[in-house]
Amino acid sequence: MLDKINTLKAEIEALTASTPAEVEALRIKYLSKKGEVALLFNDFRTVSADQKRAIGQALNELKTLATDRINALREQCESGSSTAQGLDLTRTAAPWRLGTRHPLSLVREEIIDIFRRLGFTVAEGPEIEDDWHVFSALNFAPDHPARDMQDTFFIKREPDVLLRTHTSSVQTRVMEHAQPPIRIICPGRVYRNEAISARAHCFFHQVEALYVDKNVTFSDLRQTLLYFAQEMFGPETQIRLRPSYFPFTEPSAEMDISCDLCGGKGCNFCKHTGWVEILGCGMVDPNVLEACGIDSKEYTGFALGMGIERITNLKYRVSDLRLFSENDVRFLEEFTSAH
Ligand code: DAH
Repeated sequence: MLDKINTLKAEIEALTASTPAEVEALRIKYLSKKGEVALLFNDFRTVSADQKRAIGQALNELKTLATDRINALREQCESGSSTAQGLDLTRTAAPWRLGTRHPLSLVREEIIDIFRRLGFTVAEGPEIEDDWHVFSALNFAPDHPARDMQDTFFIKREPDVLLRTHTSSVQTRVMEHAQPPIRIICPGRVYRNEAISARAHCFFHQVEALYVDKNVTFSDLRQTLLYFAQEMFGPETQIRLRPSYFPFTEPSAEMDISCDLCGGKGCNFCKHTGWVEILGCGMVDPNVLEACGIDSKEYTGFALGMGIERITNLKYRVSDLRLFSENDVRFLEEFTSAH
């Protein structure tokens, strides 16, 4: 009988299980009423009186060992830390932490969506450009200050290779290769030689729109601008156009929208004017059409360009431009709900 007890002890010490169901099967095998341990207790009746003490003690030890061992196996399985095949495939998975979209991407997509509803399609161009596409074809005079090293990053001189300073260069590229009707929206990154501060950065993002066809007029431009502003900033939004100057448009204008913080009454944000500036626009200068091989007697067009950072600031009140390029997740996670 002692031999039997010792064999069973060794067996129980070596037990393994990887699921709660396996543990339960072991419990039934060893500890139930008809289990191995109980059977030995039944045999105890036949043990001679002089052995009763030693065998009784061994039996009790066996029962404790079996109970402890099976409890330990159960705990292991339930806490999932079992090293014996250790995986419980029935456990609920921990949720994935999803990333968030960058606020500039959110706003870029929203702008594109609005123009798409008006029939504009996306066009893109290179960030590394030449003088012709960024300046000359866009009617910049040879001595225009933007051509200065202080404003533009030059990679190479003669022939000039430079980083584009505005997305208007995409206008040139598209008009060179396509005849009207042209209706494009061009999002992209641009570069200027500026000291980095809360209000300026050496790279930022723009969206350009261009519409060239027969009989395109300034009122088409105005209506497009009003539609854009109200879709972007809400149906109450008012716009106003102020005369301005750009080499590539004539006439040129800057567009303001009514300040949505104070509803146009005047506050610190709009410098007490009730208006905030958001973009530049105008009728494409005939010189630009001709430079790109489009007959300016037959066709007219309008163009507009805006900074995505500026629109994002207005929508989400991000006051420091540097936050957009620092990849601080605490900042980026604030836009989780804006998807
Ligand atoms: N390219 C101008 C800039 O970078 C923005 C701009 C103004 C674009 C007027 C246009 C426009 O298409 O018509 O500041």
